[in-house]
Amino acid sequence: MQAGMVITAYVIAAVLFIMALGGLSQQESAKRGIWLGIIGMALALLATLLSPKVMALTTGLSYILIAMLIGSAIGVYMAKRVAMTEMPELVAILHSFVGLAAVFVGVNSYLDHSQVLTPVMQNIHLVEVFLGVFIGAVTFTGSLVAFGKLRGIMSSKALNLPQRHKLNLLALLVSAVMLVQFVNQGGNDTYLVIMALIALVFGWHLVASIGGADMPVVVSMLNSYSGWAAAAAGFLLGNDLLIVTGALVGSSGAILSYIMCRAMNRSFISVIAGGFGNDPIASDDEEEGEVQPTTAEEVAGMLTNARSVVITPGYGMAVAQAQYQVQDITQKLRAQGVEVRFGIHPVAGRLPGHMNVLLAEAKVPYDIVLEMDEINDDFANTDVVLVIGANDTVNPAAKKPGSPIAGMPVLEVWDAKTVIVFKRGMASGYAGVQNPLFFMDNTKMLFGDAKASCDQIASHL
Ligand code: TAP
Repeated sequence: MQAGMVITAYVIAAVLFIMALGGLSQQESAKRGIWLGIIGMALALLATLLSPKVMALTTGLSYILIAMLIGSAIGVYMAKRVAMTEMPELVAILHSFVGLAAVFVGVNSYLDHSQVLTPVMQNIHLVEVFLGVFIGAVTFTGSLVAFGKLRGIMSSKALNLPQRHKLNLLALLVSAVMLVQFVNQGGNDTYLVIMALIALVFGWHLVASIGGADMPVVVSMLNSYSGWAAAAAGFLLGNDLLIVTGALVGSSGAILSYIMCRAMNRSFISVIAGGFGNDPIASDDEEEGEVQPTTAEEVAGMLTNARSVVITPGYGMAVAQAQYQVQDITQKLRAQGVEVRFGIHPVAGRLPGHMNVLLAEAKVPYDIVLEMDEINDDFANTDVVLVIGANDTVNPAAKKPGSPIAGMPVLEVWDAKTVIVFKRGMASGYAGVQNPLFFMDNTKMLFGDAKASCDQIASHL
């Protein structure tokens, strides 16, 4: 393939990636967006493999093909095996690979002396190497910690080192000094290695300092970092498409992080610097009281007599895989003339859009699935709210100053006439905060696995 054709293929791939992102912004077009992304990536890989640079390799090409084969096999195996609820962990570990790859590309480019550069270009190259290794190393360890926290291997509590912000600032300052020395000396292994070690610890500390409740933002933030790491690798490899793709991932990840911060009423800068989700847990004693258990039969009766029902699903619906039973209930109630709508919190579940994907899978009509802001004012006019496996996202403690989730906008389900909470026991949600909703006068608890409970209700309906 001639160089001109490779560039044309890269431009087409870049346009396909932009169209893919556009498609992903709407549920109806998300599938098309994924396909556009797959086609763009296949085109990019093919053009790179057939580019004059790669074709000129002899044994190198076979190494690339073998590596691709092994990588693809692992990718297919992992993607088939992973449960929907484990998706954020998978994303986190994949980000760590991008970070590690950026470190390798940086070191490789530093050690490669085959190109003769002018002094100015040499300096620019050294800065690229330094930044590539720095961003890659931060992304690598940060993503590993995020993986550990999401998987439950590491405590989801924030590591509260004294003076943590100053420590972070110190790491950045020392790295900046290393950069100046590194460039001034025309490249020096010692400075590169010291910076890499600092960046590894910095990445680890940055994510370890963030509390469990803010992990969704961390995952999308690492997504953004991995994009910038890929862009840095693109500069080092002289690959324009990698620069464009990295910038797309970097900026879309940053925008997503910002949107999620707004949804959780968190300051973007504070989450990045570590410091939220680590306040002492507010005392729960005053919240405890008597709960009112109910039965599937009783709930079915309430639903049949209701005019308006809102369902607010959460992580528990994903664990129970109850979406088909939920759709069954929805269909039966709508057939009886009951208005049924869904209220989706932006961080319900364990990944952005988690609930929307599950409901779409069960063929719940898109037009009755509303965002939190669209439904929150309607709860006062709702007869019955079914809280199916949600906890933090419907927790009134968010309205209480001093609570670890204080200020997080929540679905105000307690304004409805009756609230039915589906859960197995009295465990707290992801943020580890007790939920006063369970003890309110208009709340009834339907204990048991959400799928089994929904099945029983559907049969009574
Ligand atoms: P959570 O607060 O995590 O609560 C889930 C509830 O489901 C638990 O109270 C649990 O209680 C119940 N449950 C679990 N398995 C169940 C089953 N088989 N049947 C019935 N109930 C079951 O859920 P949420 O309201 O969706 O909130 C999400 C939380 O995750 C937020 O704190 C959010 O910040 C965090 N988070 C979100 C993301 C993204 S991007 N969405 C990523 C990481 C973390 P029992 O054990 O008593 O049944």
